[in-house]
Amino acid sequence: MPPKSLPWTKSPLIVNAPMGGFAGPELAIAVTKAGGLGQIGAVTDMQALDHGLSKVAQELDRIDGLLPIGVGFLPFVTDMDQAIPVLEKHRPAVVWLFAASEFEHYATLATRVRRALPTTQIWIQVGSVAAALQVAETAKPDVLCVQGSDAGGHGFQKGAGIISLLPEVVDALAAHGHDIDVVAAGGIADGRGVAAALSLGARRGVVVGTRFLAAEETQVHPAYQKAVLASQDGGQSTIRSKLFDNLRGPNIWPVAYDGRSLISESFDDHERGTEMEEIRRKHQAALQQTNGGFGESGRKGYAAIWAGTAVGLVTKVQPAKKIVEGLQAEAKEVLLKASARL
Ligand SMILES: Cc1cc2nc3c(=O)[nH]c(=O)nc-3n(C[C@H](O)[C@H](O)[C@H](O)COP(=O)(O)O)c2cc1C
Repeated sequence: MPPKSLPWTKSPLIVNAPMGGFAGPELAIAVTKAGGLGQIGAVTDMQALDHGLSKVAQELDRIDGLLPIGVGFLPFVTDMDQAIPVLEKHRPAVVWLFAASEFEHYATLATRVRRALPTTQIWIQVGSVAAALQVAETAKPDVLCVQGSDAGGHGFQKGAGIISLLPEVVDALAAHGHDIDVVAAGGIADGRGVAAALSLGARRGVVVGTRFLAAEETQVHPAYQKAVLASQDGGQSTIRSKLFDNLRGPNIWPVAYDGRSLISESFDDHERGTEMEEIRRKHQAALQQTNGGFGESGRKGYAAIWAGTAVGLVTKVQPAKKIVEGLQAEAKEVLLKASARL
């Protein structure tokens, strides 16, 4: 059942992850038009966000006074003083927060967002039972996104896949009297994953990142997308590491986080014990190449290619609408077939 205050969405709810630099207005518009929750990933450029949200406002009607999309922020790097006026101007239906430098910050941020946008939902992504409980208690989000360690991009360095994490979070929330909607993220790339997440306790639906790297509307370098499509066997072709955050210079991410990327030449150099200075030099040089440092198809590059373990299930580029509708239809079919086997 979709959340009541997102009345345009269809069940099971499919949400595109607010992938900073990848999930722009075109993707958000297409996902929302298909009956999902489209999201824009914001990083630090609030002028670009303002521009992106203006585009959305031209394409989508407001529903209950809100733009029917979400905007994702990384509070450890986003200046919320600059973000709030942009949000007040455009009033998105959802504000998504992930990677505050301390869990306590979410409560302060939630209060600020609620003061500015009282009817906007606050969604917070976490990757452990303890974080889910603390955030539920202090920030009281409308929706908690439980992110498992299969996820592409950044996440908790210490983690578990959603198959064990999600039910434990759901039980812990219930035991502590928190009636919060939960969605799942991490390794979900087809209807089987959606069906599994629903069975594990994702009441509302799922958040999908890696699969949308192959959406027509996603802003992604062609060589990056090619590498994602060419990759198989995600447990072997991707790895979680802090190395990827050290390529451009010293890692600025909060200490609890690392990121999952395709295994690259930079990672292999790191494993061989190559000095960081030399790894960074090669990385910088590779960025000048026409392939953006992402390597040729099937070949490893020197730049991070954030992608999750489900990368092997991502085999073709499709319009976002097809991805959303396919995930919903497949999930229903899988659940019906599974229950017929009981
Ligand atoms: C390329 C990429 C970029 C991402 N960027 C962000 C981001 O800017 N903010 C955020 O909250 N999550 C980000 N994520 C993580 C997602 O929120 C989500 O947890 C993840 O994509 C789910 O796992 P999946 O990739 O296996 O679907 C990113 C993920 C990917 C793959």
